[in-house]
Amino acid sequence: MPPTQIPQTYRVKSFGCQMNVYDGERMAELLAEQGITAAPDGAEADLVVLNTCHIREKAAEKVYSDIGRLRRADGSSPLIAVAGCVAQAEGDEIMKRAPAVQMVVGPQAYHRLPEMIREATGGKRVTDTDMPAQTKFGALPARNRDGRRSAPAAFLTVQEGCDKFCTYCVVPYTRGAEVSRPHAELIDEAKRLVDAGAREISLLGQNVNAWTGEDARGRTIGLDGLIRELAEIPELARIRYTTSHPNDFTEGLIAAHGEVDKLMPFLHLPVQAGSDRVLKAMNRSHTAESYLKVLEKVRAARPDIALSGDFIVGFPGESDAEFEDTLALVDTVRYAQCFSFKYSPRPGTPAATMDGQVPAEVMTERIMRLQAALGRDQTAFNKASVGKTCQVLVERKGKLPGQWLGKSPWLQSVYFEDDVAVGDMVTVELTEGGYNAVSARLLSPVAA
Ligand code: SAH
Ligand code: SF4
Ligand code: F3S
Repeated sequence: MPPTQIPQTYRVKSFGCQMNVYDGERMAELLAEQGITAAPDGAEADLVVLNTCHIREKAAEKVYSDIGRLRRADGSSPLIAVAGCVAQAEGDEIMKRAPAVQMVVGPQAYHRLPEMIREATGGKRVTDTDMPAQTKFGALPARNRDGRRSAPAAFLTVQEGCDKFCTYCVVPYTRGAEVSRPHAELIDEAKRLVDAGAREISLLGQNVNAWTGEDARGRTIGLDGLIRELAEIPELARIRYTTSHPNDFTEGLIAAHGEVDKLMPFLHLPVQAGSDRVLKAMNRSHTAESYLKVLEKVRAARPDIALSGDFIVGFPGESDAEFEDTLALVDTVRYAQCFSFKYSPRPGTPAATMDGQVPAEVMTERIMRLQAALGRDQTAFNKASVGKTCQVLVERKGKLPGQWLGKSPWLQSVYFEDDVAVGDMVTVELTEGGYNAVSARLLSPVAA
């Protein structure tokens, strides 16, 4: 029997990208608004929202094992909602395969959760995978209305969806078409986050640099205009944005990197592969050269910028020589950090049925070589930063007693020991660099 009582406690578990983390926070606020409270750590929740990711097969399969794990010893389950990109892509299949799931809600429909909970506790199994992105944001409660505090480093989704249709990728199907949230709504939300304690805001979008809107004076602006305006909020110290597409990179955004102090010297710009033939088959619509050109311009505007990217190895038809082109590109760029993945065929995408699917052992060998090269550069970047003085935003306690963890402007994880508090912006000297992190010594706290 599914639960018939309106739940009193919830837990939201988010997987996948930062946009899912953002959505998870908004769902939590929405549930709190209904009087449902967060289940304490370790305690069972009456309602569990699994906010899922469909990007690779492993991520998508995880949802079924997670649902299984929610089953209690007596055979009952909490009220379960599957949200996020797996819900969007495989909603009907989830309903068939997992009878314990009462609600399936897509990334553009979760504002309807309260209504769905009422229907589900009335005995129905409900699915909503409609896609009107604007309706969702308009219908959600304003950020931090219930007085909750924000983390020092907060996320703000400014753009959703993707029109690029890279041949390997599910995102255009799970998140829908590109939509920019209106300027006024974003300025308001940023101010609310800052009032609630945020010192850093990361602007999020699947193609965040495609964001466009009209400012208060009716002028059409791009992401650089939005960044410049957010930089005027006095208590906001840092701005970041992710993820960008090489083809939507404007001269204005490049210039902003040289001119806006609060815009952090870090750029995540995925390339995926170094071979132009592979890039074309991926429908990436940029070449290795045009990508490198963008990086060159950004580096000219902001010489100390730390670069990051995403790679896929073993795309169908990728030859040994074409994989070498990826390694050559890595050698040229010298990334500060990167994500790299084995190609995973996704149902419904063009690449899944392409000829020349690459054998698993070849993919394993390629990813190991790529990750060795990326690891070498990441360690070198961290070691090269030793001796620099910079600011660190303290985000949380470290694992060791007295230890704190924060981020450098270049998005390195920085560890140090001193008398500070979460949310402090401190000045440190970087003293030791490793693969994953950098150690530091506190020079002087910066007035909040
Ligand atoms: N919008 C961003 C990020 C999309 S998803 C962009 O355009 O780059 C994040 C990363 O997952 C992608 O950059 C890509 O490297 C990886 N990815 C996407 N689909 C994949 C697939 N089918 N197999 C393996 N990796 C994939
Ligand atoms: Fe996926 Fe390509 Fe869109 Fe990025 S740009 S979300 S990889 S389709
Ligand atoms: Fe995953 Fe959806 Fe994000 S597929 S990466 S949660 S947009």
